[in-house]
Amino acid sequence: MTEQNKIREQFPILNQKVNGYDLIYFDNGATSQKPVCVINSISDFYKTSNSNIHRGVHTLSRTATELFENARKTIANYFNVKNDQQIIFTSGTTDSINLVVNGLAKDYLKAGDEIILSAYEHHSNILPWQMWAQENGGKLKIIPLLEDESINYDAIPSLISDKTKLIAITQVSNTLGLITDIEKIKSFAQKNNIPVLLDGAQSAPHMLIDLQKLNVDFFVCSAHKMYGPTGIGLLYLSEKWLRELPISKPGGGTIKTVTFEKTEYAEGALRFEPGTPNISGAIGFAAAVNFIKSVGIQTIFEHENELVQYAQTKMSELPEVIIYGVSKHKAGVISFNVKGQHPFDVGTLLDKYGIAVRTGHHCTQPLMQHLKIQGTVRISFAIYNTKQEIDFFIEKLKKVITMLS
Ligand SMILES: Cc1ncc(COP(=O)(O)O)c(C=O)c1O
Repeated sequence: MTEQNKIREQFPILNQKVNGYDLIYFDNGATSQKPVCVINSISDFYKTSNSNIHRGVHTLSRTATELFENARKTIANYFNVKNDQQIIFTSGTTDSINLVVNGLAKDYLKAGDEIILSAYEHHSNILPWQMWAQENGGKLKIIPLLEDESINYDAIPSLISDKTKLIAITQVSNTLGLITDIEKIKSFAQKNNIPVLLDGAQSAPHMLIDLQKLNVDFFVCSAHKMYGPTGIGLLYLSEKWLRELPISKPGGGTIKTVTFEKTEYAEGALRFEPGTPNISGAIGFAAAVNFIKSVGIQTIFEHENELVQYAQTKMSELPEVIIYGVSKHKAGVISFNVKGQHPFDVGTLLDKYGIAVRTGHHCTQPLMQHLKIQGTVRISFAIYNTKQEIDFFIEKLKKVITMLS
């Protein structure tokens, strides 16, 4: 059995027909499929260890607590984070960004302050900042894109002022797959003492993330795009922000002592994790990270990059196809349109052949406005995708183009 088949075998969902054809799942940017080890880790937890955590003295509760806290350690270790308390479990990237915005809004951000974002941000990294700005007299400044849709780094110095309080940027564009040069972003930020928030929703599934090397203030990602379960993700805080970020979501579990007059909050990650957390999700997240480790993130990156280059080349040969953000430096994603056709029609017809793609604005409407289009068709890859799947996709895309013309 080939290495590729051994990997595919671990994903039972792939072994099915959709509309009479073998399923081809090219919607990994939205959510990836889950290997058996992740599925089993969650069902095993519910079969053998389910209990609430942290406050129980009984054996099951202590086992569940240990599994949950070990998951934090596994994940901290994977991202090369020294202190596992810097990893806060959230419900995902969106929740993590909201925790940062609402925390910073308590006393770090003031009226008149400015936040820098890029033109290719996901709505999740726009709306929380926009809401803060609108309610508090803040301002968003947007890094423009160049002709090839990459970030215009040269424009950054002119956006920075003494009011700039944060740069919040995605490491990989979910619509274009383009990779942001974080070292360049950091060089501008550090010169001006500006904290950086990195949205890793689309980078963590594809690239090595070493948080000590990256050395940003905030990093956020979602397990479900990394072969893990939905409803769980993380917020990484630098040591400084672990001490200084005010909590914005108080509740059970976040405290040391409570009286009706005053509460003393816990230190470390628990401070930011109110209520019963997603215990099985954290365990599944750790299993997903172990799956990635077993394959090797560099192997994943190289495999997906080969698929992107292969598909990009084949698609460029079709005169009816427009690809957005063509580049050799991409992480797992291609966005395209068929000239004169609505992406929804292209996606619906591809589905008839069992090919799952995403269509629409991909939660990046400002980027769509920049491109002057309504939406795109997006194909996005994971470790289990193959060149044979791309060949089948190209064959059917040609058919779809003929059907629509
Ligand atoms: C770049 C980026 N940021 C944020 C998000 C939001 O992630 P979630 O829906 O898991 O919170 C996504 C999801 O597609 C994304 O691609």
